[in-house]
Amino acid sequence: MNNTNKLLQTYQLTSELCLKNRLVMAPMTRAFAEDDGSPTQAMVNYYAKRADAGLIITEGTIIHPEGTGYHNVPGIYTNKHVEKWKLVSQAVHKKGGCIFMQIWHVGRVSHPSFLNGNFPVSASATSMRGKIRRSEGLYYGESRSATLAEIKLLVQSYVDAAKNAISAGFDGVEIHAANGYLIDQFLHYHTNLRQDIYGLTPENMSRFALEIVKACGDAIGFERIGIRLSPGAYLNEIVGDPRDAEVFSYLLLKLNEFPIAYVHTGNFDDSVKYNELNELTMTQFIRNHYLGSVIACGGYDLTEAKTQVGQKNCDLVSIGRAFIANPDLIIKYKQQKSLVPYSVKMLEILN
Ligand SMILES: Cc1cc2nc3c(=O)[nH]c(=O)nc-3n(C[C@H](O)[C@H](O)[C@H](O)COP(=O)(O)O)c2cc1C
Repeated sequence: MNNTNKLLQTYQLTSELCLKNRLVMAPMTRAFAEDDGSPTQAMVNYYAKRADAGLIITEGTIIHPEGTGYHNVPGIYTNKHVEKWKLVSQAVHKKGGCIFMQIWHVGRVSHPSFLNGNFPVSASATSMRGKIRRSEGLYYGESRSATLAEIKLLVQSYVDAAKNAISAGFDGVEIHAANGYLIDQFLHYHTNLRQDIYGLTPENMSRFALEIVKACGDAIGFERIGIRLSPGAYLNEIVGDPRDAEVFSYLLLKLNEFPIAYVHTGNFDDSVKYNELNELTMTQFIRNHYLGSVIACGGYDLTEAKTQVGQKNCDLVSIGRAFIANPDLIIKYKQQKSLVPYSVKMLEILN
């Protein structure tokens, strides 16, 4: 299998990083950090066990206290966070792995109880329904529109987080611009109602994402930056709009101008074709507009991942839930052993 199977061949991701295979561990929030957002020894073990992946992308890691919306998710904004994350990157490197940190601000997907009583910041004042996971009866609600001065500070928070991730020994960062969180809230018409230079047109709506990419790239090097996008609206109550395709095609064409490491699809089921993407899947849409490395994600089993990489529909495939159920996924795949099926019960322990 090894000779012909592209999934198990190396992949030159950047001038510095040659991945040992084309299977990526998808970012997955596990909510096992300490109350102050510091990673624990259990997290060190969890990531080290999966270091056979070509690339690990960590769970979403909060860039600023005001960017949080869940209990016990990790952060990367204090010295203690940096010191504790070092243990994770060192353990993964020691086992020959590569690891990027996903840097995350949830925007409106939060609640005043996380934010000293303030409404969460977003592209615009909108409201969101739904109960907050793992909370005692908390519901989402109103958000407020970021001021121009605040947008500058937010960009700086991404830069600070990216620098901290590099200080903590990570190979790079993945900017989380997918799944309906802060950056994605600027990229969709449903949540971006702004009338200023961050709203109304594809160029303006892409501005925040591109400013973050540019500023982080200038700070840590563009090859150390990946970005995750959900051009199709599917999570956290964002509703698709026929005009969204223009925003994402503009953004992806602009991303071609930066020598970043990759664009990663943010999705749970990448077989879905989106009306607002002219009946393409998210990865097909990204592939059509973006010339660099593409990581597909969302419901892939390893047979389908092999087909997609073999047909060059993407360069790498990220695997989420199967990596929770099978820390030794790569070895099992190489040895053609069957996988343990994933179950949500597995989220209750970090193993
Ligand atoms: C428990 C869990 C937590 C997740 N947390 C994140 C996250 O922090 N950041 C992110 O971009 N996606 C997150 N995702 C989405 C995954 O990265 C991935 O897109 C999804 O699981 C689909 O891939 P799969 O079918 O291989 O599991 C999460 C998914 C799961 C199951």
